[in-house]
Amino acid sequence: MTPRHFLTLLDLLPEELEYILQRAMELKRMHRDRVVHEPLRGRVLAMIFEKSSTRTRVSFEAGMAQFGGHAIFLSPRDTQLGRGEPIEDSARVISRMCDAVMIRTFEHSIVERFAAVSQVPVINGLTDAHHPCQLLADLQTFKELRGDLRGKTFAWIGDGNNMCNSYIHAAHRFDFQLKIACPYGFEPDPVLINRFQAHVELVKTAEEAARGAHLVATDVWTSMGQENESSVRKRRFSAYQITPRLLDLAADDALFMHCLPAHRGEEISDDMLDDRRAVVWDEAENRLHAQKALLEFLLAS
Ligand code: CP
Ligand code: NVA
Repeated sequence: MTPRHFLTLLDLLPEELEYILQRAMELKRMHRDRVVHEPLRGRVLAMIFEKSSTRTRVSFEAGMAQFGGHAIFLSPRDTQLGRGEPIEDSARVISRMCDAVMIRTFEHSIVERFAAVSQVPVINGLTDAHHPCQLLADLQTFKELRGDLRGKTFAWIGDGNNMCNSYIHAAHRFDFQLKIACPYGFEPDPVLINRFQAHVELVKTAEEAARGAHLVATDVWTSMGQENESSVRKRRFSAYQITPRLLDLAADDALFMHCLPAHRGEEISDDMLDDRRAVVWDEAENRLHAQKALLEFLLAS
């Protein structure tokens, strides 16, 4: 049987995504009540990290342990992946030994090539193009605090990067409107904007995007792998910093999210995370619950 993968949000149907978010909330309650639930006893998740991580690694590793399973951390520094063993060969081998594979890497095509020959589900733990696991956590957080996503207006302000692309997929899958404000030249892929134009609008200024929004979200100005562009980006993005004053333009009950790590004084002002509308710690915690729901869906159902 061909395994189900989670490389982008489009790999799951809207009703499957809804189920995962509901289940994530249930698993969170169970975790708080210290209910032992071990649907993945004896199962193993391989985690390949070609980029740094705190949240993704800890949430997947803790999630597998709580589910009675095990996670293996693999870095290119100490595996044959870093010495040029082809990705397809690695995929064939790892997927014969493990029950699922999570990959954080650079080009999106790497996870696609891995998945194409993998015998087990492959989960995208972030590529240059998408970060779907983060979206599960963001959407769970919004649902918990504000309810239904349908018909809401979200603002993405800053870089048209992997997170922005996944927000575009989310707008389509969950039927909300997304206003995107990026500096000229840093907009998301026009093909994506065009394909999902019913749910996505590109606007010029941060203020225009924030006005009336139910959620304002941003991310770092310099993603992993772009470090040599950092000083240019700081100049080009300066008008796109999120501040409490910008949030005042949003809806009265607006929330602010950031996938973290955050850079105070760059994409957010020093005081932004202390603002009552910032829910970034709940958002980070929900990586654990949302990914447990995803693992259970892909492996135990
Ligand atoms: N948000 C996120 O993916 O964080 P890490 O890079 O720490 O995994
Ligand atoms: N856009 C950021 C997200 C980090 C979680 C990056 O790719 O580095």
